[in-house]
Parts: sequence; C-alpha cells; structure tokens
Amino acid sequence: MKRTTTCGALRKADAGKTVTLNGWVHRKRDHGGISFINLRDRYGITQVVIDSDAPAELAALTAELRNEFCIAVEGLVRSRPDSMINPDMPTGEIEVVAKKLAILSRSEVLPFQVDDESEAKEELRLTYRYLDLRSAGMQRRIKLRNEVAFAVREWMTGQGFYEIETPTFIKSTPEGARDYLVPSRLYPGKFYALPQSPQLYKQILMVGGFDKYFQIARCYRDEDARGDRQPEFTQIDIEMSFVSRDDILTMTEGLMGYVFRKTLGQFLPAQFKRLTYEDAMERYGSDKPDLRFDMQMQDFGPYVADGGFQAFKDALAAGGGGVKVLVVPGKADYSRKQIEELEAQAKIYKAKGLAWMKVAGTDAAPALEGGVAKFFGQSAQTICSGLGAKPGDLLLLIADSQRKIANVALGAVRSKLGRDLGLTGPGPDGTPRFEFVWIVDFPLFEWSDEESRWEAAHHMFSWPQDQYHATLEQDPGSVKGDLYDLVLNGYELASGSIRIHDPVLQKRIFNIVGFDPVEAEQKFGFLTEAFKYGAPPHGGIAPGLDRLVMLMAGETSIKEVIAFPKNSFAVSPMDNCPSEVDRKQLEDLHLAIVQKE
Ligand code: AMO
Ligand code: AMP
Repeated sequence: MKRTTTCGALRKADAGKTVTLNGWVHRKRDHGGISFINLRDRYGITQVVIDSDAPAELAALTAELRNEFCIAVEGLVRSRPDSMINPDMPTGEIEVVAKKLAILSRSEVLPFQVDDESEAKEELRLTYRYLDLRSAGMQRRIKLRNEVAFAVREWMTGQGFYEIETPTFIKSTPEGARDYLVPSRLYPGKFYALPQSPQLYKQILMVGGFDKYFQIARCYRDEDARGDRQPEFTQIDIEMSFVSRDDILTMTEGLMGYVFRKTLGQFLPAQFKRLTYEDAMERYGSDKPDLRFDMQMQDFGPYVADGGFQAFKDALAAGGGGVKVLVVPGKADYSRKQIEELEAQAKIYKAKGLAWMKVAGTDAAPALEGGVAKFFGQSAQTICSGLGAKPGDLLLLIADSQRKIANVALGAVRSKLGRDLGLTGPGPDGTPRFEFVWIVDFPLFEWSDEESRWEAAHHMFSWPQDQYHATLEQDPGSVKGDLYDLVLNGYELASGSIRIHDPVLQKRIFNIVGFDPVEAEQKFGFLTEAFKYGAPPHGGIAPGLDRLVMLMAGETSIKEVIAFPKNSFAVSPMDNCPSEVDRKQLEDLHLAIVQKE
C-alpha cells in the first residue's frame, strides 16, 4: 500500500478520487462507532474517517491504533459538509473515508507527545530526537535550514563563487578555541586536528588562484557550550581575492538580502548600518548591539564636576575612567526593586553600583528626584537638556575608573531593559524584525591580563589598517585592523577581515603576540611559505549558518535548528556520545588512558 499522494496535498477538487496515504497517527478520536484519525507526514495532516459501517477487519485494526503508529490507508476523498470544514488546516475541506488500512509499524508508549505544545524537557527531546524531529516546529525549522542553505548556494554560485571542500583532518594550529584531536594510527604520538574553521585553507586557495571561494563548512571547537554555541557547527565560509573591505561587506549584504527574500519573503535594506567598534562600545556598551531598540548610552562626564557625588569624581580622577548614563523614557515609575534587579545585572559585569535619578518638574523647568539627585539638583536644567531627558524619564548611571567597565555594565543594563520592556518583540504587523549592523574598525590586538601579553582580537591573519604599519610594535593597543563583524538582533552573526598576504608583515604580527619564531615556523610555516609565491591580496568572512537560521526562525538556541545537536555538556543523549572505546582501539592508536587521582 504505497502512497499515491501526501497528507498535505488533498483539496476540495480531489473529492471522488481514491488515494493511498502513508503516515503517522497524530491523533485518534472515537465517536461511538465512527473514528477519526489525523494522519501526519512531512507535508501536513489529513483527516481519515473510519465509518461505523466499516468492515469488521478494518474496525479491528482501527481499534489497535495508538499515537505514532506508522500506517497506510486507502480510501475515498470526500468533501466535508460545510459545518465540518476546518479553515485552519490546508486539507480542512476534505477527509478520506478509509476502505483499507495496514499497520506498517507500531509504536511503544511515547516518552512525550509529538506536539509543539509538548512540555518535554530538552534532555528528553534530545534522547528521543527522532520523535522530537516529527514535531511541526522541528519540521518547519529543518525545512527553513534546507531552504537557507540552498539559497546560499544559489546566490554564491550565481555570483561566480566555487564551492570547494577543505579537509576536516588538519594540522593542529592555535586559533582561539581548543582543538578536537584525532590520533594517528600510522604515526604514533601524532595527531590530526578537526578544523575550528577552514581559515588557513581558504587563504591558501587564494594563493592557488581560486579568487572566489565559499563552502558550507563544518567547524569544531572544544569550548563551553552556550545558547548560540555548539562544539560542532556550520559556517558559510567565504574568501575573495583582489578586494577591499567594502567589497566583502557589499557581497555579504547581497547574500543576506537574497536569502531573506527567497526564504522568508522579507526585504532587507540594500545597505546595512555601520558602526565603529568604538562607537558601538560608547553607545551600546557592546560590540554586538541589538538595534531593534534605540536607547543609546550617553556621557555623563561633563556634569560630574558641578555635582557633589564623590564616587563619580573618583572614577574620573585618574583619567581613563568614565561616567555613563542611560535615559529610560517614561520609566520614572520604576520601583526600587526593579532598579535593584538592574543593578544586579550591572554588577555581573563588574560595576560597583547603579546610580539613578528621576526626572520630575515640567518640560520648561525639569527637576531631578530620588537616588543621587541630591548631588545634581542645581544642574537639573543643563543635564536634562544636554541628555534630552524629559519629566517622567529615569536616568541610570554607572561610573568606573575603567571606562570599558562603565560601558559594558551599562550596556548589559540596556539589554535587560530591552527584554524587560518588550522592545525586542515583533513589529506592529506581527512580523519579526531583523536589525543588521556592521561593526568595523576593531582593534587588532587585545591585552590579556591572564597571559600578560598582546593577543589577536580576531585571529592572527587580519590586516592592520595601512596607517599603522610603520608603528605596529610601538603601540599595539592603538592599532585598528581591517576587521568586521556582522551583528543581527544582538548576536554576532559573522566575522571576517582583510588578510595579511605579506610574509614579513605576518611574521611581525606573530612576534607581537609573543609567538616564538621557531614555533611560528613549525605551526604556520606552510602559510608563510605559500605567501612567498605571489600571494594575492585577499579577505573574507564567515556567517554562522546555525545562528542565521536560529534568528530567522525566531529562536534563542541553535539546538532548535540542528537535527542532532549536543546538549549543554557536549553530550549527545540519543547515542551517548562521547563514549568509551575498546582497549584494542586504544592500542592501535598508541594511546593509554591516565586515571586522575
Ligand atoms: P569566527 O570564529 O568569528 O570567525 O566565527 C565566525 C562565525 O561562526 C559562528 N560561530 C559559531 N556558531 C555556533 N557555535 C559555535 N561554537 C560558533 N563559533 C563561531 C558565528 C561566528 O560569527 N575563520 C573566521 C572567519 C573569517 O575570518 O573569515 C572565523 O571562524 O556566527
Ligand atoms: P553609596 O554612596 O556607596 O551608598 O552609593 C549610593 C548609590 O550610588 C547606590 O545606589 C550605589 O549603587 C551607587 N553607586 C556607587 N558607586 C557607583 C558607581 N561607581 N557607579 C554608579 N553607581 C554607583
């Protein structure tokens, strides 16, 4: 009883046809002799009716059916009477009157119902992922993921890019996270590493003359899992030769525009906003600001000297400090408890406190009340007109002798307010909003207190902007790189840079990050060697496919858009991976397990 159509296809015009459907019992209802089965497959749900005058054999089989039995039904399509039409179902105008039924496969008692409203815990969903995958939500998201990947290939190919595979067994090279290692059987004591990204190979492809490369590439990183991180994930990896930064940004805007239009029917602006890293930190306290709401932080520094609040004065005393303020429109009615919750958020990001004042009075004569207002009362007019604050607004302030702490902590308060005040929800017509922004001009190096040395802010292959080349070594902290991130709704969606193609400059960068020349030669010698043979100027970018689909699907965890993800402990509960291996396998690989005390 092979299917002649699917459970999503039949309409009123099909009435009178005899069809065979294959699928799963989604629900069964018995109404005194007459039974209804909602039969489900990937394409939809069709109502099957077993009439009260059905032959005994059919009735007996029907009685056996339970949810998620896999069955075949042959029957006659008939229009439903007007009163029974279900406008919420695409197949709601018809039903199939069963003539024959076969059980293809039975199901045991289910650990949870296959249903989007299912309250099943994530661990259970992952253990029985095959059942979870049958739910409408997972089916919809996996479908979207497929459509996105297809649209990416369509657009990139149309633009003249080649999709080229790079190896997944590579040389272990430091790239930021910890490598996953694969021991070599043939070479005792040697290891392959799984790539954290195809970074070095795509650069070498440029040396190999393939000037437009892309790959939907699996990447592997041994780092702590988070909502938007998995140990293995997928990048839309891209590299181009003979380009400037703006060429890459424009290409990426074209790609995103195509993907959103093709898969969601959503039109994006032809160009995305751009913010420098410095502006992003000053205004939003984050290098991945959520621009679905405005509420920018401002500098309170100019008002500190005339006030009497010592904590603010102390923060500015030594230079390098900052006092930042957020004007929260119309929230002067925030309770002390609500402000304390915001303060707790700020303290996670090392703020010493969260000071506040409320704007009262009138537009013409605003006054400041509550909190630290007693220190600033005499300047109320100047402060309010300077900040654009109005009666009814709440001011939230953080001071710190390290400006970055004031920025980041108040930025975290801004993010919490965005969530608490529902500012990140869908637009007025109910459609999700997608606010893209480029963050450009990142610093090339970051000081690591832990290691007491300069580290590459992105990776070691990014081009320092030309104006810094002469003085790189003198003041690494001031060097800006040709680095860019694409941010969507507060998530880092993509990262990229113009690369170094000059072996001498590359060696200088290795040197600044304290990479021993012998070690640099061992680890990256093949790259600098390749650059000796006419390396073209090049650059690229890599959007995370999982994060992209997650945001398009309106989800907050990438597990929701990956068929078989790992849980938060990097374990797959379905097949219990990672698992122990036979002693023989270990011996073959020249490995011994050392038990820790
Ligand atoms: P980066 O390390 O910033 O850059 O990664 C690029 C993008 O990949 C996604 N991503 C992840 N997604 C899920 N789980 C993870 N653990 C994870 N880590 C990263 C993010 C991120 O923006 N080779 C460079 C790119 C380049 O310079 O061209 C790179 O890998 O969306
Ligand atoms: P205190 O004078 O320490 O009692 O603090 C008075 C108020 O100012 C409290 O609400 C503190 O949270 C806040 N506060 C103290 N230090 C800072 C700071 N560095 N930045 C912002 N607010 C602060």
